[in-house]
Amino acid sequence: MPIAATISKGIFNPHLEVHGNCTLSGEIKINGAKNSALVLMAASLLTEDPLLLKNVPHLTDIEGMGEILLTLGVKLKHNGNNLHIQSEELHHVELPYELVHGLRASFFCIGPLLARLGQAKIPLPGGCEIGARPVVEHIKGLKALGAYINVEHGVVTASVPGSQRRLKGADIVLDCPSVGATETILMAAVLAEGKSSIENAAQEPEIQDLAKLLNSMGAKVSGAGGRKITIQGVNQLHGCDYTVMPDRIEAGTFLIAAAITRSSLRISPIIPEHLNAVLQKLRDCGCKLQIIEDEIQIKADEIKGVDITTQPFPGFPTDLQAPFMALMTTAIGTSVITEKIYENRMQHVAELQRMGASIRLQGSTAVIEGIPQLSAAPVYGGDLRSTAAMVIASLSAKGISKIEGLNHLDRGYAEIENKLNRAGAHIIRH
Ligand code: UD1
Repeated sequence: MPIAATISKGIFNPHLEVHGNCTLSGEIKINGAKNSALVLMAASLLTEDPLLLKNVPHLTDIEGMGEILLTLGVKLKHNGNNLHIQSEELHHVELPYELVHGLRASFFCIGPLLARLGQAKIPLPGGCEIGARPVVEHIKGLKALGAYINVEHGVVTASVPGSQRRLKGADIVLDCPSVGATETILMAAVLAEGKSSIENAAQEPEIQDLAKLLNSMGAKVSGAGGRKITIQGVNQLHGCDYTVMPDRIEAGTFLIAAAITRSSLRISPIIPEHLNAVLQKLRDCGCKLQIIEDEIQIKADEIKGVDITTQPFPGFPTDLQAPFMALMTTAIGTSVITEKIYENRMQHVAELQRMGASIRLQGSTAVIEGIPQLSAAPVYGGDLRSTAAMVIASLSAKGISKIEGLNHLDRGYAEIENKLNRAGAHIIRH
């Protein structure tokens, strides 16, 4: 429901009050990657030994995944950004719908549970705000590894036949390079008997981070980050300490925030190769970028319109499409943004239009005519990255915006208002 409606009825919804016309300066620190941390937490189910994950961000999605692991019998201890996990005694192989609903990453547990215990019962994660998001490829891969899978009444029941209940290596070719399917199959195959391969695998950095953790636990995975991943199954895995990689999407969001406010900002730590497509588009639209080791400095002045099309990695990430569209609303000239990954990821268009943006939407393509400045408005972010796009747009707008949809925002951005305020923004959480 738009905020204007809720406020007029006297209903209070948590929101951010963002003062516009802001200039950012100084530095912003980037957290560990949400999408990596979630899958690494699931991978902890693969060993009885203690695992220490470092650089885990404080996010509601991470809390949700923690709840799921606790339900399965895992012991968890948070200590700052360190997360101690021990999956010695798993007393459940089944997850209730109430926990799974709203956290797609819960489905990651199916691969490790099958590999370690030979059975799992997990409700289908279902679609979400941005699209249908099927798990057909995940299931196809697990079946190829020898699992029996039955999908009925919205629940996936999976088991491994035989007295050993051990998956068997297989050569799997994905129909589409799904990130989640690649991760699920990878986690299942590391403890399978014999060799497996995944062709047409997703190449996202999160896959490499998962493979690095698995190899630190004693797995034999090679080729992660490329189109074909090879896995030699091992009998068991052991514990280790592992540091989650920096969040490339959070870093990209703050780079775009600097660009839309025509500011200079330093952002670290980043892994520059994870952001190549985004950095190229920022350069194309006129930003000056300097990379020194794991730090990037951005200086933005005049911004020109550029076209983007979202693609699997190493292409432009769909998770930065909404923030980049916010930037294009005040660029000089026309830009065309095409969303190729999700069928329903244009919810921010209507909200940006309410801030005065000139955008024509034709299916999954938006044509944006840049205007000199947006005007503040009450807006609602309907999904995680749309809400981030609203924050970014509001920083540069004329006036004070009110942004609802913080339940989405808090899933993926830890203390976003504090980080931006330390860099010169004026944002209040109500
Ligand atoms: C992950 C990320 C998400 C990001 C996405 C794409 C996590 C927790 N989430 O999501 O932030 O936006 O990658 O970079 O890591 N598809 C099929 N059949 C399948 C599986 C997927 O058609 O069996 C399609 C999906 O509908 C979608 C596309 O493939 O259109 C990409 O999905 P996928 O790569 O699986 O994304 P996730 O792993 O869910």
